[in-house]
Amino acid sequence: MRAGELFDLSGELALVTGASSGLGKRFAAVLAANGATVIVVARRTDRLDVLVAEIERSGGKAFAVACDVTDSAQIALAFDQAEDLAGPVTILVNNAGIAHAGGALNLKHAEWRSVMATNLDAVFHVAQEGAQRMVEAEKSGSIINIASVLGTHLQKGVSAYAVSKAGVIQLTKALALEWARHNIRVNAIAPGWFRTEINDAFLDSDMGDVMKRKNPMRRFGGEADLDGALLLLASGAGAYMTGGLITVDGGHTLEV
Ligand SMILES: NC(=O)c1ccc[n+]([C@@H]2O[C@H](COP(=O)([O-])OP(=O)(O)OC[C@H]3O[C@@H](n4cnc5c(N)ncnc54)[C@H](OP(=O)(O)O)[C@@H]3O)[C@@H](O)[C@H]2O)c1
Repeated sequence: MRAGELFDLSGELALVTGASSGLGKRFAAVLAANGATVIVVARRTDRLDVLVAEIERSGGKAFAVACDVTDSAQIALAFDQAEDLAGPVTILVNNAGIAHAGGALNLKHAEWRSVMATNLDAVFHVAQEGAQRMVEAEKSGSIINIASVLGTHLQKGVSAYAVSKAGVIQLTKALALEWARHNIRVNAIAPGWFRTEINDAFLDSDMGDVMKRKNPMRRFGGEADLDGALLLLASGAGAYMTGGLITVDGGHTLEV
């Protein structure tokens, strides 16, 4: 089997949340470059329109759909729109996420709720909506949840974020266990540090510089460093993988 064939996504419809920037934008472009039609989802539709134009210029096919993933009614509407535009979703990348900064002692309840609503509740709601429709359409599918190395490891000042990502990892296993009989695979990726809008101020700080120097590879993740994990889980190459977590962190979590 040749790699191009093994990872080919022709005929698949992928929905990527949080595609208006950072990792999600790249995920959408990579899935499209490998043959999938892609529904790009976020609140900032002006950015989604630019991404759709970029994907189309490169020969791919994509559509923009506005959705706040913390609103389950909007999630259902986004899937309705995706189906009207291109059919049933078969690859789902649960990527939308937010961070917060500050110690647990003074973390406001509203901030805790907001992180949980976006990073954990929405991951469940989007996965459930997608899986229900896959079952109804009698389609197999792949759900890829974007966790974090902070779902298994810690640093100070990220309590809500770390707990939400730990929840995503356990949720991934729970859904994988229940949905395998429907041929719906559910896996997660745990990225280390990748420079995006979620963390660029932190990574530019002295602390960010320390993080970079502490990384065994002496660098943050680069633009293409998650492509392989994404394609493995999205394509037939990962057909027997479910409930898994792929860590892509340059060795960051190896050393205590
Ligand atoms: N960068 C890293 O080092 C790193 C490491 C580990 C894990 N991650 C995870 O990777 C994912 C992507 O993060 P990123 O680094 O690419 O950050 P980013 O550039 O800030 O992108 C976050 C994306 O999430 C979307 N989003 C946030 N709240 C949303 C909501 N309520 N409804 C719909 N979309 C929403 C944003 O779109 P709109 O604002 O347009 O809605 C944006 O497209 C996150 O889950 C993050 O936790 C990142």
